[in-house]
Amino acid sequence: MYQLGLIGYPVEHSLSPWIHRHLLEQSGLAGDYRLFEIKPEDSFAEKIQKVKNVVDGFNVTVPYKQKIIPYLDELDEVAEEMQAVNTVLFKDGKWIGYNTDGIGYLRSLKKAYPAIFEQKEANILIIGAGGAARAIYYALIKEGFQSIDIANRTLEKAEDIADLGGLTSRTTIYSIEEIEEHLVQYDVIIQTTSIGMKSVNLNPVVTIKQLKEGAIVSDIVYQPIETTLLKDAKESQANVLYGHTMLLYQAQAAFEIWTHERVDVTKMEKELLKVLKGR
Ligand code: ATR
Repeated sequence: MYQLGLIGYPVEHSLSPWIHRHLLEQSGLAGDYRLFEIKPEDSFAEKIQKVKNVVDGFNVTVPYKQKIIPYLDELDEVAEEMQAVNTVLFKDGKWIGYNTDGIGYLRSLKKAYPAIFEQKEANILIIGAGGAARAIYYALIKEGFQSIDIANRTLEKAEDIADLGGLTSRTTIYSIEEIEEHLVQYDVIIQTTSIGMKSVNLNPVVTIKQLKEGAIVSDIVYQPIETTLLKDAKESQANVLYGHTMLLYQAQAAFEIWTHERVDVTKMEKELLKVLKGR
């Protein structure tokens, strides 16, 4: 029996139980995935101990991806570099932290557009410089992509991410205002801010004027499933990548850490799309 779950706040609308129960079912493993809400006013140490008492592994979401670190015994290389954890495994008496956001994003991109992985010199743009941007940037660099620019409102945060690239990559940093004029140079544009989310602001973070032919435009926002940015991108004949795919593949990678089973999520991708459209 795999006892799994998610800590975060708020977690009640999380799609993770739906995803992981499907993964358990599809891999023929017995187990459950539960939500553990930890309120800001709760004692984090006490709550974490209670969770640890009843699970074999768990996911971590906002706002605890950094806060969990002192409660773990080890971090894998990616989580260490990100200083953020989204997956925890109990193994050989130790609690080990991982971060599957970057690999999840890469897998979702590879599934939809495998050809781009043959073009390591492709021009890539990441919009935003938060935790998701950092994980995606690092995964792309590790995969061998060499040209990844960043556009962000706060330039220092983008510079901090660019430091992860060291000498292996070329990264130019732009402000959000500047980048609109340059969108046409990119083969892949990845939107990682919360702008476009229905609870935040439906307007796109950037206005698309002109895109390169065959460009891929990806948005990690999945509520709504078709953000204004993706709608505009489609109107400019771009290829799009929907945000729910990253959610699904980061879960696939977490599930693999816990169970060593890699479940094909192609069918779930379509089912999750229906669930999201109904929300
Ligand atoms: P996550 O960890 O989920 O990626 P985050 O760390 O809160 O989220 O990052 C949010 C991103 O959205 C940041 O790039 C943030 O820009 P700043 O670095 O300048 O704060 C960006 N963001 C949030 N609100 C924004 C807004 N109104 N305009 C432009 N960018 C915004």
